[in-house]
Formats: sequence, structure tokens, C-alpha cells
Amino acid sequence: MFTLRPVCGEAFLDREELLQELVETLSSSRQKMGFALVGPRRMGKTSLFLETVRRLKEIPGVVPVYLSLWELVEGTPEELSRELISASLDAFREEGLLPLKVQARGLLKAPLELLRDIIGGMKISLKLREEIELVLMLTRGRGQAGPGELISRALALPEKLARESGVRCALFLDEFPTVLELRQGGKPLGEGVVRRLRTEYETMENLVLSISGSVRSTMEAVTLRPAAAFWRQFIVREVGPLPKRAVEELLRRNLDRTLTPEALSKLWDFTQGIPFYVQFIGRELSRGRGRTITEAEVEKTLAEFLNEEGEVMFQEQWQRLSAKERKILQVMSHGYAAPTAIAREADESPNTVSQYLQYLKGKGLVERPEPGRWRIADPVFARWLGIHTR
Ligand SMILES: Nc1ncnc2c1ncn2[C@@H]1O[C@H](COP(=O)(O)OP(=O)(O)OP(=O)(O)O)[C@@H](O)[C@H]1O
Ligand SMILES: [Mg+2]
Repeated sequence: MFTLRPVCGEAFLDREELLQELVETLSSSRQKMGFALVGPRRMGKTSLFLETVRRLKEIPGVVPVYLSLWELVEGTPEELSRELISASLDAFREEGLLPLKVQARGLLKAPLELLRDIIGGMKISLKLREEIELVLMLTRGRGQAGPGELISRALALPEKLARESGVRCALFLDEFPTVLELRQGGKPLGEGVVRRLRTEYETMENLVLSISGSVRSTMEAVTLRPAAAFWRQFIVREVGPLPKRAVEELLRRNLDRTLTPEALSKLWDFTQGIPFYVQFIGRELSRGRGRTITEAEVEKTLAEFLNEEGEVMFQEQWQRLSAKERKILQVMSHGYAAPTAIAREADESPNTVSQYLQYLKGKGLVERPEPGRWRIADPVFARWLGIHTR
């Protein structure tokens, strides 16, 4: 079936080389570095992490823990710490390494007395029991701890659990740069917390961290730039589109209708292998009638997609841009690629255009495939712009 949610297992296609690298590196005790996956929205970063987690679960001696920072609702250090603790406890429990009868979520909400009881009953060292109780208390706002200390202690928990169980913990923090947006009492915590985490992480021996991020500039701020706290702490890998054969495979598997070669090539041109779009359009086509899918049917489906979904997906992002950024993107959506040509069409100076192209690149909206040539990163966004801003 086509799906818009992250996939793993049978439904996960291609990327075998990258997956093997992830799984081998993260499960080998000789390797100390985790990964930083960088890739635009909807490319399949979460799916890659989830499939890696699935495979690591089958390898003895490794406990994978996954947490997406996009799932945080309050966006506070307490919430992040709670989620981290609960994901870690559950992962160790699932592996049978932590005798814990309740799901960690229950533990987090349990009244104090019960909490002490449950923790007291865990067959782990007294020191670790005390540590778990302490961090849990801190996430309830009891006791004094700054946000940096709180999150560091939460991060240290899976390390300690791993050390005591004699295993390695592979922690995946999906959309990691979101830590920069955490707020306490309305105030953003910013980079200080990231540095604190780095310091904590440095001393760890059993935990290997991997992160992902969709926005280039924030990934640069946390790891890709020499001044960043996690500079050179990860093996950096780009997550790009799926190859043509994977797209064909996805369609063949999930459609009981066949595409004509022309229809297939239309679909490929439109999606450029970005898995989300293939899944979405595929789902629409699976609802149609008749054995064959013609080029005309694909065209109609794509037009509807742009009008309806495109509006939902792109309008908000579009509204958040400045007037100059919009103008430059508009010009680019009509095929202009060289900064001088863009400048001429947008009636701006080449310097201004160069500067704004850098801003847009930081937001992940444009890329420079070769020196002197720029393009809108998401081909579907480019088409939407082309239609809506004529
Ligand atoms: N390897 C794959 N095989 C088949 N479908 C995939 C694959 N990877 C991703 N997809 C599909 O692409 C879409 C986006 O996947 P996913 O959520 O993993 O990407 P993401 O980069 O984490 O996106 P987001 O920016 O929304 O977090 C989903 O519909 C998913 O089912
Ligand atoms: Mg994701």
C-alpha cells in the first residue's frame, strides 16, 4: 500500500548501501562515530532511521533508541528529557535488559510513592536506580537543575543503562536541530544546551549518537560548521531522492494498474524520485479505474495535486518568506538559473541576488548543483510556484 508515513521493513525500498553502512558502523564496538543525515523535507530520513533501528534490534549487544524532536509539543527541556528517558527505558525493557513491568510512560505519570516502588524493584544497581529517580524528579520540576543539566542527565541515562547491561546503545535523535528552539519560561535556550550536550557526550563510551535534520542552516549551526558544537562528531551523509528503478518498483508493487511508458516518464519528471511525492501520486492513481494509466490521467492527477495538496504544503512556507526572497524564487521557477540572469529578471543587483540565494540555501529552498547555476531544491515546489505566481 502507498503511505505518507515513514516506512520500514518490507515497505522500505532501496538505499541498501547507506543502510548497511549505518547498521555495520553503529553495531561495531570499534566504531565510535554516529551519523548525521542531512536531507530536505520528505526525502526519507525518518524512514532510514526507523529501518536502521529495525535491523539493529536483530543484532545482539546493541540497543537502538529512537526519538523525533518534532514530536515534542511543549518544546521544553523537561519534555525533551522525559521523552528521552521514556524512549530509553522502553528500548532496554523491550530487549529484556531492564525488568520493568510498566511501560515507561506510565512511570512518568505515576504518583511519587508508586514511582519509588517501581524503581526500587528494578534489578539494577542502587546507583542507577537513584539516578533514574533523580532525573525523573527533575523533569517534574522538583529539585534544582538548569535546562542544560537536565537534558545532559537524561542523555546520560541510556549510556548508564548500556554500561551496566554491557551493551552498546545507538541513539537516534531525529530533527536534532530543534533543540535550538527549546524554550524555558518563554526564553529560547539556544546553542548553550547543544554545547552542554556535546561535553556530556564526549565522555560517553557506550552510547553512539546519530542525528538528522531537514534545514541546512540549523544543521550547520549544530554540526556542519567548524564553529559548531558537534563539528566532526558525525559521519555526514546526504539523503537524496530514490533512483528510477526504486520508483518503478514502488509503483509496480502497489498498483494493480499499469502505467504506459509515457505516463511513467511524466511521473518521474514530476517527482524526481522524491519518495513522498511518489507515494502520494501513487495513492491517487491507485484509486482510478481501468487497467492502464495513461499520460493524460497522470497529468490530470498531477494538476489536482498541485492545486489541492500544493496549496496546503507550500502556502505557509511561502508566506513566511520576505518579498525579495519570493521574487527571486518566482523568477527561478521560470527557469532562470544564473545569478546575473535572475538579477536582471528580478530587477535587483547581482550582489543582492547572491546574498538572498545564500539565505534561501540556508532554508533549504535552493541549491547550486554546479558553480554559477542555481535551482529550486524541491521540483514540485518549483512547479507550484510556476503556476501560482504567473
Ligand atoms: N526507502 C523508502 N521506500 C519507500 N518509501 C519511502 C522510503 N523512504 C521514504 N519513503 C516515503 O516518503 C515519505 C517521506 O518519508 P519520511 O517521513 O521518512 O521522510 P523525512 O525525510 O523524514 O520527511 P520529513 O521531512 O517530513 O520528516 C513517506 O511517504 C514515506 O513512506
Ligand atoms: Mg522525518
